[in-house]
Amino acid sequence: MNILVTGGAGYIGSHTLIELYKAGHTAVVVDNLSNSNSESLRRVAKILGVDEIPFYKTDIRDREGLENVFAKHNIDACIHFAGLKAVGESVEKPWEYYENNISGTLVLVDVMRKHGCKNIIFSSSATVYGDPAEIPITEQCPKGQCTNPYGWTKSMLEQVLMDIQKADPEWNVVLLRYFNPVGAHPGGTIGENPNGIPNNLMPYITQVAVGKRAELGVFGNDYPTPDGTGVRDYIHVVDLANGHVCALKAIERKCGLGIYNLGTGHGYSVLDMVKAFEKENGVPVPYSIKPRRAGDIATCYSNPAKAEKELGWKAQYGINEMVRDSWNWQRQNPDGYPEK
Ligand code: NAD
Ligand code: UD1
Repeated sequence: MNILVTGGAGYIGSHTLIELYKAGHTAVVVDNLSNSNSESLRRVAKILGVDEIPFYKTDIRDREGLENVFAKHNIDACIHFAGLKAVGESVEKPWEYYENNISGTLVLVDVMRKHGCKNIIFSSSATVYGDPAEIPITEQCPKGQCTNPYGWTKSMLEQVLMDIQKADPEWNVVLLRYFNPVGAHPGGTIGENPNGIPNNLMPYITQVAVGKRAELGVFGNDYPTPDGTGVRDYIHVVDLANGHVCALKAIERKCGLGIYNLGTGHGYSVLDMVKAFEKENGVPVPYSIKPRRAGDIATCYSNPAKAEKELGWKAQYGINEMVRDSWNWQRQNPDGYPEK
């Protein structure tokens, strides 16, 4: 299939491009580069041994720009990564988050249907479960109260896409709820490239390890978890990328609506991650215990059985590969991609 990948220059999008091409698909990328660098696409092309990945520096809110892409390419399906994703920033700038993520998706879906393309895979998040009613979390678990506008955009967009699919069953909509993506392509030439101070655990650890930050602040050690620190379901980004390839097969089978957790089913604490990183990579990660971060929950990990049963997808990589590949990317690219 020929896939429109919105947000394809970003962290998960760039890794997914590789797995798409390896599975025999082709792609067209639309990205406004608001949180990425087209260098990632050059590196993806190099890894794949292709001249280039077709790319449009276009905003998904730009209807004309999207029309132009659909006029030039036969698109079979869209994998929709484009969106703003910084939780704290979304609290400061709610309008910007709702406008970018929700308006952008509404324009995208409208242009898609006008061009007869009714297949979409949407990047959702475990954040839609709020403080989950059950652990491990199955897709049956009711959605919860999000603690920030970013989370609400995911929750609301899931509803928008479900309603569209219900009204027009020609649509195939796959909602993928990612747990905590970490790691990088094993070659270490592409990876996560956060702007400024990282919000998420793994990029913070790698920046401490590479000497860019003095120490990791561990947000709370008094949670009801084995060592008191927060427990999450970290998943290697290459496994996550392959989840999209499996979801495309479901779309080819005309799956209608599908909702899947993409996680490993294993929970690791903050200190588990620090220790695994130090042991695997032989690099110290100094840390100190800080107060809890507002909005954090104690424990969040998936039951990924539904994705295995229905998509034939299961995570292959464990914690050692995750910390190894995160470090491999960071140490080869201490400052991320070169300036745009
Ligand atoms: P990312 O920021 O690296 O990638 C998102 C890409 O979308 C960026 O390249 C950005 O420039 C682009 N973009 C943003 N707004 C756009 C717009 N209006 N028009 C065109 N392009 C636009 O983020 P990521 O980590 O690769 O995440 C991809 C998707 O997965 C996002 O929707 C994110 O919310 C979701 N997600 C990410 C995580 C995570 O921890 N990384 C977890 C759950 C869900
Ligand atoms: C965060 C987002 C969530 C998003 C997810 C994946 C919040 C409140 N939630 O979740 O919406 O879907 O990322 O992108 O931001 N930690 C530290 N020190 C740090 C950073 C993190 O101790 O410097 C701890 C956290 O308290 C948590 C764990 O590490 O226990 C993981 O944090 P993080 O990587 O930010 O992911 P989530 O909190 O799961």
